Amino acid sequence: MTTLPIRIAPSILAADFSKLGQEVKDVVDAGAEWVHLDVMDGHFVPNISFGPDVIKSLRPYTTAFFDCHLMISPADPYLEAFAKAGCDGITVHAEAGAHLHRSLQTIRALGKKVGVTLNPATPLSVIENVLDDVDLILIMSVNPGFGGQKFIPAMNDKIRAAKAMIGNRPIELEVDGGITADTIGAATKAGANVFVAGSAVYKGDGIAAYRDNIARLKTAAEDGRR
Ligand code: DX5
Ligand code: ZN
Repeated sequence: MTTLPIRIAPSILAADFSKLGQEVKDVVDAGAEWVHLDVMDGHFVPNISFGPDVIKSLRPYTTAFFDCHLMISPADPYLEAFAKAGCDGITVHAEAGAHLHRSLQTIRALGKKVGVTLNPATPLSVIENVLDDVDLILIMSVNPGFGGQKFIPAMNDKIRAAKAMIGNRPIELEVDGGITADTIGAATKAGANVFVAGSAVYKGDGIAAYRDNIARLKTAAEDGRR
């Protein structure tokens, strides 16, 4: 079974919204291969962030993978708009609607990487019938809506169970929420390879700080693999 590379996906929710384009460019120049875009609608989650037009305006700043996390319900009516805005991967919540398989088929038909995500309380059994329809599984390690929350330790068991469920499938296993140098090692040991980090990356001022923060996370993740 191939071991997928460790990836740090900074969440721009923690960036300075008054200069979002520069913040995206800086974090990629600081070593991030993915940029995590937290879309929030104030309905599925108790917060509002940004929509497709903001993502479209960020697209020209980098060729990095735009990892779009839709915390919206319903999601289906907006999938095409996020695809056209430049998302490379689109991840929907299993809890966002009644027809998850149809949402995943739609993302596939739009030519994007297909992701599914589960809130902390949602059991993995909800996705056991769509494993062959996704490229990425995102395990929420906080209740979605805000950055800066504490990692829920019980989610390491869920990550381990998700990894077992994935088997040999080439599915990226991503974790989102409360990822720091102190929590990333156990999540890596449990089997995750992609790590969303907002407050742990967008800390300090500018590209030098971001580079240190990303390097610290990567080192701690690799230690978790040893
Ligand atoms: C929460 C978002 C997370 C969050 C991560 O709803 O999905 O991506 O921004 O922020 P930190 O890394 O600060 O927990
Ligand atoms: Zn997210």
